[in-house]
Amino acid sequence: MTRTVYINGQYMAETDAKVSIFDRGFLFADAVYEVTAVLEGKLIDNAGHIARLTRSCQELGIPMPISAEELTEIQRSLIEKNQLHEGGVYLQLTRGSEGDRDFSYSEDIKPTLVLFTQARELIHSPVAKKGIKVLSMDDIRWRRRDIKTTSLLPACMAKHIAHQAGCDDVWLIEQGYVTEGGSSNAYIVTDEGKIITRPLSNDILSGITRASLMLLAKDCGLVIEERAFTIEEAYQATEAFVSSATTFIWPVTHIDDHEIGDGKPGPIAAKLREIYIKTSLEMAE
Ligand code: PDD
Repeated sequence: MTRTVYINGQYMAETDAKVSIFDRGFLFADAVYEVTAVLEGKLIDNAGHIARLTRSCQELGIPMPISAEELTEIQRSLIEKNQLHEGGVYLQLTRGSEGDRDFSYSEDIKPTLVLFTQARELIHSPVAKKGIKVLSMDDIRWRRRDIKTTSLLPACMAKHIAHQAGCDDVWLIEQGYVTEGGSSNAYIVTDEGKIITRPLSNDILSGITRASLMLLAKDCGLVIEERAFTIEEAYQATEAFVSSATTFIWPVTHIDDHEIGDGKPGPIAAKLREIYIKTSLEMAE
């Protein structure tokens, strides 16, 4: 089926949507993006995603071409036009094009806005039951990982190496400490049942799923400690898991050559996933 996509004020068939070869998103990855999950045709945690987009734009000086309300309107229209039941809406905003390649840019350059839907099984994803194997790797990304830019080559390369090694994803390591997953936030559970995750800073993306998860965990009496943890501590953890808009919560059963806990998906990750999905469905817009 040919999708209907949105580009700079227009809805059109995906095959007709074109962006200039001089677009700075294409030439310099001078662009920000967001992925909002969709369940039962409704947006999940979208206010958080739009707020983070606004912040990413502010940090880079990319003007938001339309309001948050208008963006949400487009997201909803695309869901409807493509009859999306479950999956996500991808949104990308680039600084735009000035008709040539030039490192510098003017202030009044007009941004390029693109949105499209992606059908994906989220609730009954087999991976959520089975868990994932991750490979640890040096985090070679830039120092502003709090901004959600499309400079994703390090993540693509790391994931590719992990796939070649028979793993599902990566956990990135800086100075011995886990920063985050290739496209997710990372968590471990200690012997006492405490959830550990790295505190927010420029070192990691401030996950929208992470924010919701932390509130839900507290509500059901789970203790979360925000501190950096080493990869060795992760090897010894009782459980490990990741969170993102494309996975919600997925258990991690193996890290490098180590089985986590008994090598099976753990109960805390399963419980959090269940509560997250239930609450998200209740609050979906
Ligand atoms: N990635 N950390 C990184 C590096 C990410 O790329 C993502 C999300 C997250 C989780 O953020 P959130 O919970 O807001 O999705 C953490 C998206 C899903 C992607 O690149 O497709």
